[in-house]
Amino acid sequence: MSRETRLATRPVRPATPADAGAIHQIVTAAFAREDEARLVQLIVERGQVLISLVALSGDEAVGHVLVSPIELSERVRCAGIAPLSVLPVHQGMGFGSALMFEAIAVARGLNFDALFLLGNPDYYHRFGFTTAQVGNEYGATDAFMQLELRPGCLQGVSGTARYVSAFNEVSV
Ligand SMILES: CC(C)(COP(=O)(O)OP(=O)(O)OC[C@H]1O[C@@H](n2cnc3c(N)ncnc32)[C@H](O)[C@@H]1OP(=O)(O)O)[C@@H](O)C(=O)NCCC(=O)NCCS
Repeated sequence: MSRETRLATRPVRPATPADAGAIHQIVTAAFAREDEARLVQLIVERGQVLISLVALSGDEAVGHVLVSPIELSERVRCAGIAPLSVLPVHQGMGFGSALMFEAIAVARGLNFDALFLLGNPDYYHRFGFTTAQVGNEYGATDAFMQLELRPGCLQGVSGTARYVSAFNEVSV
């Protein structure tokens, strides 16, 4: 199956409150610990979710992505993609990519200027992410990445990109 066909057969839809249990399981299994799942829960409880999507295999949710606000500068509307999770038995089958492409498309539709994430550049380059030009709270270098949805919007922007406080309350 080609990469394009594989992606087209990985349906993604917005998460609903009824998905909470499945999302907790997916995130816990993907990271082999509960911290990231508690982070998702905190962000949901605080009403700070911008985008929450699940990827489906049949009727079963097997992947999840969350997007929450990032504070950087009044000139740019930014958001952070984290965490991205796929059940281990379903990894390497295109679910993560389908979630990423859809999260980016939805963020673009919501008129966000730029997206950030912390992750392995080998994986995230394929979605257009490049090394971030601004600082982050984690001392990350190459792993902190940006995607301009409005080209050039981050030019001349400096400072530190800050995730919602839940990221500092849970050890991720
Ligand atoms: C990272 C993750 C979401 C990717 O989802 P996925 O459904 O397995 O990814 P896809 O099937 O869309 O893409 C597979 C490709 O990504 C690569 N890949 C997967 N995880 C990777 C990682 N952590 N680093 C680098 N490359 C990775 C695979 O080698 C494969 O490459 P190929 O297309 O060249 O063969 C999934 O592996 C996961 O849940 N991992 C544990 C949690 C995690 O680390 N999340 C990301 C940090 S927030």
